[in-house]
Amino acid sequence: MVDGVAAVHDLNKKLLYMENVYKDYGKKRVLDNIDLSVESGEFCTLVGPSGCGKSTLFRLILGEERPTSGEILIDGIPVGYPDKTRGIVYQKYSLYPNLRVVENILLGPKLASGAVRWLAKKNIFEQEARQILAEVKLADHGDKYPHELSGGMQQRVAIAQALIMKPKILLMDEPFGALDPGTREHLQVFILELWHKFNMTVFFVTHDLEEALFLGTRVLVLSQFYMDGRGDGETNRGSKIVFDEKVTRSTTTDFKHSAECAELMKKIRESGFDPEHRRHVTEFNLRHPDSFQTLTEAEKRMA
Ligand SMILES: Nc1ncnc2c1ncn2[C@@H]1O[C@H](COP(=O)(O)OP(=O)(O)O)[C@@H](O)[C@H]1O
Ligand SMILES: [Mg+2]
Repeated sequence: MVDGVAAVHDLNKKLLYMENVYKDYGKKRVLDNIDLSVESGEFCTLVGPSGCGKSTLFRLILGEERPTSGEILIDGIPVGYPDKTRGIVYQKYSLYPNLRVVENILLGPKLASGAVRWLAKKNIFEQEARQILAEVKLADHGDKYPHELSGGMQQRVAIAQALIMKPKILLMDEPFGALDPGTREHLQVFILELWHKFNMTVFFVTHDLEEALFLGTRVLVLSQFYMDGRGDGETNRGSKIVFDEKVTRSTTTDFKHSAECAELMKKIRESGFDPEHRRHVTEFNLRHPDSFQTLTEAEKRMA
């Protein structure tokens, strides 16, 4: 028999731990009782129908917004305001056009260190920024302005901006969504190399299922398409994690064209994206070993 207290204690030691997290905007419930536990080193990809609350979930993890209720811990510590434990890369517009690439990368350290420390350590930070630029294969582009770089290169600068802060968890919200397919695939391989080299923990939102399955060690689906047995079964209570599985790490892009990938994509479409295929709240596909679910009293009664 599993000791409930010990199990919870153990989960609390995960890098990211969320339990019973709700987020409402006015009367609209966006996130409904989210339970999530992520270990250090994982590459989690998150997909879900447009507007289901993926970016909202990220804002809660970042600390840009508070949950309506529930607990969010990073390394066992409740999430406060945004700080360097969480980094974020967005689809676009994270670079200041009037600053050179290297200055853009130094913005984070500058803001975080305060004037005195910044002046004392400026040279060290700049050295570090140049090193990180080399890691993202932009060693020769530090003195350029963002508009002189291609879209793919700009996103690599955005990744460098996040990396210099050495976040415990790197959140990426559709980071390759604005890139052409060739560049996108290139950056997919690139981010996997970085993840591997720096032992990073990545949490990556995409609306491209193929991308999610290729990159993730774990694929999560957030969806509002389910029912709970209450009311007419169509009452939209907000989104839950309806699918959570470990994915075998694929090393080549061939995986995208494999039968295994096609099969998983079909399963995910059905369980998360098809409003006709609603599943009961107790029937979600939560097979990842770290996955857990706290049902409300009402959900237990309906089960
Ligand atoms: N600040 C806000 N105020 C009110 N509603 C919001 C706010 N932010 C997001 N929403 C609503 O929450 C839902 C989820 O949004 P979002 O997290 O951006 O979805 P996703 O990233 O999955 O596309 C949407 O219906 C959106 O309109
Ligand atoms: Mg979004």
